[in-house]
Parts: sequence; structure tokens; C-alpha cells
Amino acid sequence: GGMSVESDNVTLSLPSGESVKVLLYGATVISWIVDGQEKLFLSEKAKLDGTKPVRGGIPLVFPVFGKATEGPTAVLTQHGFARICKWELLGKTSESERSVQVDFGLGPENLTAGLQKQWPYPFGLIYSVTLTRTSLETKILVRNEGSETFDFNWLFHTYLRVPDISTVGVEGLKGVQYKDKVTASEATEENAELAIVSKVDRVYANVSNTVVVKSGGNPLYRVERTNLEDVVIWNPWEDAVGMADFSPDDGYKNMICVEAGAVSKWHKLEPQNVWEAGAVIHI
Ligand code: BG6
Repeated sequence: GGMSVESDNVTLSLPSGESVKVLLYGATVISWIVDGQEKLFLSEKAKLDGTKPVRGGIPLVFPVFGKATEGPTAVLTQHGFARICKWELLGKTSESERSVQVDFGLGPENLTAGLQKQWPYPFGLIYSVTLTRTSLETKILVRNEGSETFDFNWLFHTYLRVPDISTVGVEGLKGVQYKDKVTASEATEENAELAIVSKVDRVYANVSNTVVVKSGGNPLYRVERTNLEDVVIWNPWEDAVGMADFSPDDGYKNMICVEAGAVSKWHKLEPQNVWEAGAVIHI
């Protein structure tokens, strides 16, 4: 096991066959293979050349979730800049027969001059991806290196691959208040297992349970969160047809975005402070 490095991506692998591939562009995980099976959804038309955020895998959302209408992030494009910048490979940080980790870094020096102007806060991000035999662990550290406090959101925009959306149920959200972006309303989740039968775009705030994605009643993925209070559930359904980089047209039947994040409110980071969070997907 170990790490292999190419000009625009890094692959980690274990002797038992598991692997994970990360593009330097956006530090986007684009593949996670266990038992010869791909666990993440990646659109066949996803742009991997740095011209557009990657449609699939695990894009990183920072410093704003969605599009802000006011404040310092309002000038940024949807979901911020972390997913559209080329990150630095810091290196492999540990390795054993059962686990291997790689770290990536992003700071103002990796941003275009335009982006540096748009978000002029000195900051440092360190992103760690750890592959084990049965899990994919993602950890983020955000550091304020300036003299002003800044507000931010963080989110792992994870596209999980599922065999058939009609058999999928998402467990762990019952009783949680959510903002429904499709109907522009708020509600409380009533289902112990949320079924996906049409377009879904919801921000569940302050989720105390671990979310489990099931298929035909059997657990497929368990998404454990540390310091990430919110969960976004997204499936574009037939809107996928209108998305230039979404393919095949019915690919929405093989994916569900279960996004661990800190997005329902701003997080403040004071000078010389760090904020750490993480998500682990267990199979
Ligand atoms: C989700 C948002 O997290 O990301 C949706 O809740 C959005 O509203 C989706 O459509 C995809 O965003 P993008 O910018 O990658 O097309």
C-alpha cells in the first residue's frame, strides 16, 4: 500500500485492494474503491481539468455554502473557492497495512489574484484524507492567519453511489428541522427513513444522530460527523437532464448527496484560532 503521485492527482491504496483517488484541483476525491466497487458517484461528463467544479466525488465547500446575499462572501461564486482552486500536496502522513493518509494545503498563495481580492483574509486550510479497509475519513483544519475575525461555512459535498435510488432510505433525520430549498419552506422531518422520490434539496440543521444510508433495508453507508452539526441531502432528480456536466441523464438514480457540514449558521474564526471538523464514511 501507499501513495502514487501524478501531475494532477494522487492515489492512496492498501495491500488489501482498497483505493482512493484525489484530484489536486479542489482536493476533490473522485474515486473510492472497496472490494472492486466504486462507492462514489462521478458524472461521466464531470470536468476534471480545472475548468469547472467536479460533478461528483467529494467537492469541498468553503468559505460559503450556496450563494450568500450579503457579507464578505457575497462576491464569491456558489459554494466558494475551495473546490475550484488547485491545492498543494503536503504529503503522505502515515501508513500501515490497514490505513494510509495524505494531506493537502490551501492558502491565499494558491488563489488567483481575483479570488484573493474577493476574499482578502489570510487563512490556511489543511485537508486530510485517510483510507482504511472499511472507511474513508476526511478531516479539515481551518486557520485564521490574519488580524480580523472572519465568518465561514464548511461542507463535504459527498456524492454517494447507490444501486437504485428507489430502494434508498436515509435514517437519522427524524425530528430534525430542515430548510427545504425546493419548496422554499421549513419543516420537521417525520420519517424514520427518508425515501427519495423526487427532487430533494434540504438543509437539516443540528442533526444529533449519525446518518445511515440504507438500500432495501440494509445499511450501505454510515456517515459519522465531528463538529459538523448539519446535513444536506440533495438529489437533482430529472433536473439532472438540464445540467451540462451531469451524465448519464438518469444517473440521479445511482447517487445521493449526503453532505456533512457547518452551514445553517456562520462560524466565526478569530485571529490565530483554528477550527477542526471531519466526516467518516463507513461501509
Ligand atoms: C447542494 C445545494 O449542496 O449543491 C443545491 O443544496 C445545489 O442547492 C447543489 O444545487 C449542487 O451545486 P453545484 O454548484 O455543484 O451545481
